[in-house]
Amino acid sequence: MTPIIRRMRPGEEAELTALLAAAYGHARFGPTVLRLAGMADAAIHVLEAEGALRAAAAVVDYGRAAYLGIVGTDPAMQGRGFGRRIVEAALAPVPAGRVILLDASPSGAPLYETLGFVDVDASVVLEAKGPVEAPPVPGLAPMAEADLPAVAAYDAAVFGADRTAGLTALFREHPAGMLCRRDGRVTGYGLRHPDRIGPVLAEDQDTAAALVAALSALAPAGPMTITVPSSHAAMLDHLRRREVPELRRLRHMRRGGDRHPSDRGRIAAMASFHLG
Ligand SMILES: CC(C)(COP(=O)(O)OP(=O)(O)OC[C@H]1O[C@@H](n2cnc3c(N)ncnc32)[C@H](O)[C@@H]1OP(=O)(O)O)[C@@H](O)C(=O)NCCC(=O)NCCS
Repeated sequence: MTPIIRRMRPGEEAELTALLAAAYGHARFGPTVLRLAGMADAAIHVLEAEGALRAAAAVVDYGRAAYLGIVGTDPAMQGRGFGRRIVEAALAPVPAGRVILLDASPSGAPLYETLGFVDVDASVVLEAKGPVEAPPVPGLAPMAEADLPAVAAYDAAVFGADRTAGLTALFREHPAGMLCRRDGRVTGYGLRHPDRIGPVLAEDQDTAAALVAALSALAPAGPMTITVPSSHAAMLDHLRRREVPELRRLRHMRRGGDRHPSDRGRIAAMASFHLG
């Protein structure tokens, strides 16, 4: 039977979540799939063969940059070209010349290299078992929904593209964040999910460390991952000195565009591997 490649349909979220759980070997994709399905700037492509979803990939097109994520093939059907075909289909609608970003796992990297992606730096996943202490800085306060426009504007200046939809979705799923303002100007912000810290963007390392400390002290207590660009050496060094262990690192890659849109040296923690 010839595989069909198409956009995911409403009602297929659970099947896609199960496919990604099988491909990646863990079952935490439910919120990600629902978030992407609800974002107007995201498109999820699926490959259907023998009556079931066998591969998937999503692109969030921010306008100035696009992000490729949730690339996965049913483990029973890998090595048949499904991964290549679904990635090509997901990238096809992205206008020529637009910079495309991704974070490659060891199994995905060879495919992306042949599609013209080149290394930028690493995205380092660490896991804190509890609060990561650091001195507080002036102007730090809990974030409210009303802060989202100011946060999204600051984020756009550092990330290099407008992530309003994704940041709003993240905050509404779990409204826990910290904002730092000095002289009325945003100098940093961060979001916390039950099992994750990020994004964290800040003007300087003291602010970034204070944000991570405050976010890591929020409920619920327990292990939380934080993904730090290797370009942010100060945050990696800070976490190592506090004995926060490294779990793994992915290859942050890009294709197209004249330059990387983000100031990765001011991104102390990424939002996710599908939002950047
Ligand atoms: C990455 C993944 C989607 C590839 O899916 P797939 O359907 O097996 O991919 P394809 O059959 O199209 O193979 C793509 C290319 O990658 C190569 N490749 C695939 N797995 C590889 C591996 N483990 N090591 C080296 N090369 C590999 C293939 O040789 C192929 O190259 P070719 O087209 O020049 O022959 C699949 O391995 C997967 O789901 N991995 C787990 C989830 C994951 O890590 N996703 C990527 C996140 S960035």
